[in-house]
Amino acid sequence: AYMHQIMGLSVLEKQLKETLQLDNIIIVPGNSDEQERVKQEMGKACATFLRENIEEAGTIAVTGGTTIAAVAEMMTPFDKASCLFVPARGGIGEKEENQANTIAAKMARQAKGDYRLLYVPDPLSESSYRTMIEEPAVIDILQIIQGSDIVLHGIGDAITMAKRRKTSNEIIGKLQQEEAVSEAFGYYFNDAGEVVHKVKTIGLHLDDLTGSSHSVITVAGGRSKARAITSYLKQGRSDLLITDEAAAETILRDN
Ligand code: G3H
Repeated sequence: AYMHQIMGLSVLEKQLKETLQLDNIIIVPGNSDEQERVKQEMGKACATFLRENIEEAGTIAVTGGTTIAAVAEMMTPFDKASCLFVPARGGIGEKEENQANTIAAKMARQAKGDYRLLYVPDPLSESSYRTMIEEPAVIDILQIIQGSDIVLHGIGDAITMAKRRKTSNEIIGKLQQEEAVSEAFGYYFNDAGEVVHKVKTIGLHLDDLTGSSHSVITVAGGRSKARAITSYLKQGRSDLLITDEAAAETILRDN
């Protein structure tokens, strides 16, 4: 039965690679919507990948959310090097335990690396944004973030994320009207992968990812995120997707 499961998942991985046009996919068994353990397994798969594949000291930028928090939970020191962890972006309305800053610090602790944090008021007005990006301390950390070697991020269902972040009814209305289905890095996307809204904050911008200087690792699973994952990957960059069986099966069924 065990071999059957492994073989089954490798067939699923192959099919999903074709459907999503991605070279690297890891699928863990189960549905993380229903079992917390499955989210931890995705976290473990990501932590293991990093532990085995990081060859030299570098910088890892991370986003927030419960999935990337599960990666932090499972992180252990890397085999060959230690890294610097930074948040990919400033606050985007998440609770403390789901904030990128909190997760970056936790990863550093678990992996015996270092961290730098980015303190940005959340929400951030247009005028404070313009003032803050002139601050030498902010410029300094922004350079580190934008020069990161690896970007580790989650994907959320758009409306679920907007509500969790206590987004105003006005913005939620806009997201519904624009048919937003996914969220990553504080950007909201429609089914075609077009950006329909972005949260104002400092840090990595989507354009920063299109160059080849960063490796992008995406961790997202659960049947409820199938459409969101497909949407983000329409245009969003990813070099490795770590997901679960339920998301993978649903993506294949619907595409
Ligand atoms: O950006 C995506 C969201 O942060 C995903 O959050 O991992 O808690 O579902 P989650």
